[in-house]
Amino acid sequence: MESTARDESRFLKACRMEPVDCTPVWFMRQAGRYLPEYRELRKSHTLLDLCRNPDLAAEVTLQPIRRFDLDAAIIFADILLPLEGMGVAFEFAKGEGPVIHRPLRSPGDVKTLRLMEPAEELSFVLDAIRVVRRELSSSIALIGFAGAPFTLASYMIEGGRSRAFQEAKLFMYSEPGAWHELMVKLATITVAYLAAQIEAGAQAVQLFDSWVGCLGPEDYEQYVLPYSQSIFERLDRYEVPLIHFGTGTATLLDLMKKAGGTVIGLDFRVRLGEAWQNLGRDVAIQGNLDPIAMLGPQDLLRGKVLDVLSEAASQRGHIFNLGHGILPQTPIENVSAVVNWVHQESRRVDDVQDEL
Ligand code: CP3
Repeated sequence: MESTARDESRFLKACRMEPVDCTPVWFMRQAGRYLPEYRELRKSHTLLDLCRNPDLAAEVTLQPIRRFDLDAAIIFADILLPLEGMGVAFEFAKGEGPVIHRPLRSPGDVKTLRLMEPAEELSFVLDAIRVVRRELSSSIALIGFAGAPFTLASYMIEGGRSRAFQEAKLFMYSEPGAWHELMVKLATITVAYLAAQIEAGAQAVQLFDSWVGCLGPEDYEQYVLPYSQSIFERLDRYEVPLIHFGTGTATLLDLMKKAGGTVIGLDFRVRLGEAWQNLGRDVAIQGNLDPIAMLGPQDLLRGKVLDVLSEAASQRGHIFNLGHGILPQTPIENVSAVVNWVHQESRRVDDVQDEL
């Protein structure tokens, strides 16, 4: 039997392409530096401290929920957390983002990676999920997440941020056997990690393939698709919405849909209506406001929000979000304004009445 929590969440209904009273909205990176209460906590704790302490992680997850009328919470963690247990040490360096101490450079490096057990080594994330679920009202869904194998591999090989992904691509091209081994290890860990999050109470999970848009379609198909596909296939039995997100993916969307996901996350470089049309109406869509529009004056921002809603054309299965993570400079008033505009401007009396 379906739980009441499931029935009440507008976000979960939209993921399942069921009728909703209005379009649900949440923001990638909605917990973070644009919130003064987050910056306050960061004065006395590192990012990794926050992630590793379930009560603090739960607190940070709930911060945006207290301020805004959001339809989903996303557990506070980071896609790089599994690296440590695999034997890949890293830190978040100030102003630089993630820094991997010894990037992978050879097939031998891949061999030494540990197939760690997320339920044990990342138990703090699972505990944070349990705390949040206890505190969250049933109308607000809790989303779990993980990095996709390509995006994780790109950090492990590049050693940090990259523009061209030269090292990662060269590794992929010149060491196909080691690449396969790396992707299989990452996919195995990711399935176990997401399954454990679902079992702990995550009601949907998002796979972040943030940097996969650096690949052409042939390379995506050969070097990435089989591994992402195996993750979605193995999570299918949990019957929770699976969100598949990447950026720069305009030419990859059909292949991403083939790889899997009940919801496809779009970035802001595509027209939502056209992308949805091409993908087919059997998949839900999440996106796709440009995060930079969130910094602008409210009349411009409102126009951009209405454009996204009009691209979605009140079709079932749209979840409003940004095309990438919210920026630290985002004014708080703009966030609450967007949440309210999305709810007000998308109110669908007819669709819901049809169901009564
Ligand atoms: O969405 C949320 O509110 C949940 C929290 C979350 C974080 N990281 C916390 C975090 C999520 C969903 C992520 C995912 C993540 N992490 C991704 C995929 C999403 C994307 O944006 O494409 C990636 C690529 C990472 C790796 C990562 N972590 C980078 C590149 C950085 C530095 C970026 C920056 O802006 O400095 C991080 C650090 C990080 N992870 C922060 C937060 C809130 C920065 C805040 C801080 O230092 O306190």
